[in-house]
Amino acid sequence: MPFQEKISVAPMMDVTTREFRYLLRKQTRHTTLYTEMIPAEAIVHGRSAELLSYDEPGPPVLQLGSADPEKMAAAGERAREAGYTTVNINAGCPSPRVRSGGFGVFLMGQKDMAAEMVKRLKARNLTVTVKHRLGVDCYDPTALLEFCRTLIHAGVDALIVHARIALSRGISPEENRTIPPLDYDAVYRLKDSFPDLPIVINGGIAGKEAIMAHLERVDGVMIGRAVARNPAIVSAYDRDFFGDPAPPSDFWDGTGEYLRQRHLAGRPPGILCRAIMDWMHGRPGGKLFRQILSESKVPFLERWEQAEALARTSTDQDRYSNLWSDVKQRVTLNGGGTHD
Ligand SMILES: Cc1cc2nc3c(=O)[nH]c(=O)nc-3n(C[C@H](O)[C@H](O)[C@H](O)COP(=O)(O)O)c2cc1C
Repeated sequence: MPFQEKISVAPMMDVTTREFRYLLRKQTRHTTLYTEMIPAEAIVHGRSAELLSYDEPGPPVLQLGSADPEKMAAAGERAREAGYTTVNINAGCPSPRVRSGGFGVFLMGQKDMAAEMVKRLKARNLTVTVKHRLGVDCYDPTALLEFCRTLIHAGVDALIVHARIALSRGISPEENRTIPPLDYDAVYRLKDSFPDLPIVINGGIAGKEAIMAHLERVDGVMIGRAVARNPAIVSAYDRDFFGDPAPPSDFWDGTGEYLRQRHLAGRPPGILCRAIMDWMHGRPGGKLFRQILSESKVPFLERWEQAEALARTSTDQDRYSNLWSDVKQRVTLNGGGTHD
């Protein structure tokens, strides 16, 4: 199938969990969703069934991290067996853990190894993409072109470019998403150099106008933190970017039951709360909704019951503030521990 990722939600560790993606998919049928980065090693030697499970009707894009082409290929094989069709290689993350493993953005300095990974994954009948930056520690257009050219020769299906360099030392991963300046023109120039290769732009993009403007220059836009902060924005994407006027399904319909099931399946409450807590962002009751779910002394099901009731009626904040104080008091009197 030709590569098609006009709009995507970026891979984000601890954010694009199985549960968060399930909720996103309820609100957008067409947007491409990515897993968090999963180390290839964990799939090969660990709990592959659990790591590769998904609840969306179709598979998300699986993002893999590794510095070992063989492990990458083995993980790709398991992914294909589990129903995945597209694998994305992480060549953009600069965290200290990734540095010690020699993968993430450090693959940009190992273009032959990155190309070998692409080849081996392609041989497993997968669509293969690479997510990378403009460079490591400096922007060297010749080195960047060479990196991309090597991946193209290996058969890469698309490149996703975070439009800034990464600094390999001295700043945190969070700062590496804000301190190096964005350079969208550098991504446009890559597209001019490789007009036949699908190129997706990423970094600091939010809002319909900005997304539309980028789509004039490249093949797709990937959005990360804007969705993490306020996930409900995706509910306009099908209409705005895919010309599909059908409204998304009622967000709350089935959501409570789904989260209760995931809780019964043993999913930690912290992960479940994180997946749901920002869906009321900017709406009446939104702050209280978040506050209720953050109250880790209260058992998850109790938190969720209150939060869901609030979301369903949403505007009657006073009523729910009082109700919530009662719940907290009861739990404190009972000497409840932490439930995250
Ligand atoms: C909490 C968080 C976790 C992230 N985890 C990953 C990851 O697992 N893999 C990856 O390639 N990028 C990761 N990123 C980077 C994003 O995919 C994206 O490239 C970056 O946030 C820039 O896009 P944005 O400005 O739209 O957020 C992460 C970003 C955030 C905020």
